Amino acid sequence: MCGIVGYIGNQDTKEILLRGLEKLEYRGYDSAGIAVLDRQGVHLFKEKGRIACLREIVDPQTCGEVGIGHTRWATHGVPNRVNAHPHQSASGRFTLVHNGVIENYEQLKTGLLASHDFKSDTDTEVIVQLVEKFAGESETVEEGFRKTLKELKGSYAIALLDKEDPDVIYVAKNKSPLLVGVGEHFNVVASDAMAMLQVTDQFVELMDKEIVVLTRNSITIKDLEGREIQRGTFTPEIDASDIEKGTYPHYMLKEIDEQPFVIRNIVQKYQDLDGKLSLDESIRKEMLSCDRVYIIACGTSYHAGLVGKQYMEKWAKVPVEVHIASEFSYNMPLLSEKPLFIFISQSGETADSRAVLVEIKKLGHKAITLTNVPGSTLSREADHTLHLYAGPEIAVASTKAYTAQLAVLAILAVDTAYAKGIELDFDPIKELSIVANAMEILCDAKEEMEDIAATYLPADKRNAFFLGRNMDYYVCLEGALKLKEISYIQAEGFPGGELKHGPIALIEDGTPIIALATQEKVNLNIRGNVKEVVARGANPCIISMKGLQQPRDRFIIPAVHPDFTALVSVIPLQLISYYAALQRGCDVDKPRNLAKSVTVE
Ligand code: F6R
Repeated sequence: MCGIVGYIGNQDTKEILLRGLEKLEYRGYDSAGIAVLDRQGVHLFKEKGRIACLREIVDPQTCGEVGIGHTRWATHGVPNRVNAHPHQSASGRFTLVHNGVIENYEQLKTGLLASHDFKSDTDTEVIVQLVEKFAGESETVEEGFRKTLKELKGSYAIALLDKEDPDVIYVAKNKSPLLVGVGEHFNVVASDAMAMLQVTDQFVELMDKEIVVLTRNSITIKDLEGREIQRGTFTPEIDASDIEKGTYPHYMLKEIDEQPFVIRNIVQKYQDLDGKLSLDESIRKEMLSCDRVYIIACGTSYHAGLVGKQYMEKWAKVPVEVHIASEFSYNMPLLSEKPLFIFISQSGETADSRAVLVEIKKLGHKAITLTNVPGSTLSREADHTLHLYAGPEIAVASTKAYTAQLAVLAILAVDTAYAKGIELDFDPIKELSIVANAMEILCDAKEEMEDIAATYLPADKRNAFFLGRNMDYYVCLEGALKLKEISYIQAEGFPGGELKHGPIALIEDGTPIIALATQEKVNLNIRGNVKEVVARGANPCIISMKGLQQPRDRFIIPAVHPDFTALVSVIPLQLISYYAALQRGCDVDKPRNLAKSVTVE
């Protein structure tokens, strides 16, 4: 969470910083700031709210050839101008932006910095005060910076300016993402390549506990002892146009619409020369040699894991447990003898999942990361990576990454089944192509979804329930998460049969119920459960699958293979959430209190 950017070169520094921050806004957006340094000194602008609010207060005359910027997701201290970054040292010599959490900031405040006054409530301010202290006691600022970093416990990505040296940005990283962008007579640094694509497509990866001394013409990477490290550049597989909205009003709608393409792309990427779905031999070996898979994930990725478990158990006959990362960390179950861990993470940066990865690596277990961002922390630190090939997902609410996760998990299960000599009674490539076609039809049903949102979730509705059984239940969990996170309607997903054990007490006249009926084996059961809530006044919207429909169903999705329904039934739920949020005037792409990449535990 939080995004940082820094630039040194002779272009319009403030504009590069602001544009970079706009691309990083998905990481947090409660306040923002930039600092631009010229021969006269530091020009600092900070504002509560979005980058658009910051833009309004930045003096258009500001020029300078070095600067840093930050967009914040508050952890320590409320979102306001004082707590917004950049922060400055007491004398004003040093200016700094930080992403991460300094766990020992209280001890540093009362210990090494006991004589200092602090202006903000942030953990970050201790870093800049320490830099000033240690720089004063050291031969060089760089040495003072390294001494500072050695005092910090926790995670950080830092960019630091020294008013007395406008030819350098000091950079450091530990556990929080950070990349250097390489240019001709300029260099740039940011939390994410997307913020730098405006000026370069050449990047240098940074590792934990490294610092970088960045000038216009040089990038010097060092460890915390000051030893130089050589590293080459790379070009990521993203295109600047992938991160634009085009003619769409919101990224979320664009990303929903991209799903058929994503599924076709995944099938293509995972086909071997004989046109068969196939994975890397090393991943297959891990799947074959484990006695149990442990899927670890959070939020939407966790919901994808629940569906993935069905695929692996049903098709590949591998036992699977699915765990919420933040629970697993502090309450590890008894593990099997040969466990294999699969981390599902769109961003590859989720701190809760990474905490588990660190623990299980200490125990010597193997890990595969399924991610949309190869090269991310979870990807680098696991033994293997399975790429989602979904293209950048910018909207905070995950949509195309979820269906991509389901498709890649399905391919993993199919590959394992094939390797075990298990015959599947369907052709996965054909079924996934039927899924992609069905997704297209569903993406075209926007008007109907808008109407469902208006009918069942009008402005006075404060809650909604999603009912389903088996596969449909897992999709209901995801549908409820989507609705609550972007429309702020309290929404919960329940297994149809569980309602009568408690939640049915919540049903009142007009309570909206969205029920999924795509599973033949429980079609009559779920309909019975809907009748139970209707008898208590609920207003049901049944979404069924062709072949299983009944007269009063509100919407019928095209028929797909019963094991693949989750890939399609989620689309109406994504669209209903989108329109419900829109009709309430919510900021669909940047819902309150959330951030795309959750890099704090
Ligand atoms: C919901 C959503 C979150 C993420 C969760 C995990 O729409 O996006 O629930 O799924 O924060 O993030 P990743 O997948 O990046 O680990």
